[in-house]
Amino acid sequence: MMTLDQMMEKLKSELDEGRYMHSVNVMHTSLALAEHYKADSEKAALAGILHDCGKNYKGDRAREYIKQIGYPADEIEWVQTRLLHGIIGEHLARTQYGVLDEEILGAIRWHTTGRAGMNLLEKIVFVADYIEPLRSFDGVEEMRKVAFEDLDKCVVLCADSTIEYIVKKGVLLHPRTIETRNHSLILLKSRNTA
Ligand SMILES: [Fe+2]
Ligand SMILES: [Fe+2]
Repeated sequence: MMTLDQMMEKLKSELDEGRYMHSVNVMHTSLALAEHYKADSEKAALAGILHDCGKNYKGDRAREYIKQIGYPADEIEWVQTRLLHGIIGEHLARTQYGVLDEEILGAIRWHTTGRAGMNLLEKIVFVADYIEPLRSFDGVEEMRKVAFEDLDKCVVLCADSTIEYIVKKGVLLHPRTIETRNHSLILLKSRNTA
């Protein structure tokens, strides 16, 4: 596996400046969340810095990559190709950055939509992607606060925000985003009634 410095150098040369800065921020935010929730900080940093490493693959280029690796993209992913950068990112992390750790790979893979039953590292990167300091949208301050109070509650807020954004934009909404929201809400409810 590459060192963190080597990964950062490679990403810096491949991503545009804004995307690279976002990646560095997601790394720092993931680290802060990992410390707060006692997750593995090294894994959080690596997953954070690499989470968007597949972001250069868009449209037909993304479709080609996906065909090549044999991922069974569904109809929505096939149309909304930005949904594929997590899957592509996971593959690049494995093949170009030498990441073998399944937890790191999972956090990269699922960061775009989340999934039902995310593990701690997956939740951390999913949330860090929304709340990193460069993000500015209505409600982000509240999300930044909730992220350090209740991670599952913050996952719900992130999914809500995506759903609102996607509906307003009039593009396809992936069911995994809804599953992420529902699953986290069920977790919250079962915790509150326990
Ligand atoms: Fe992303
Ligand atoms: Fe991102």
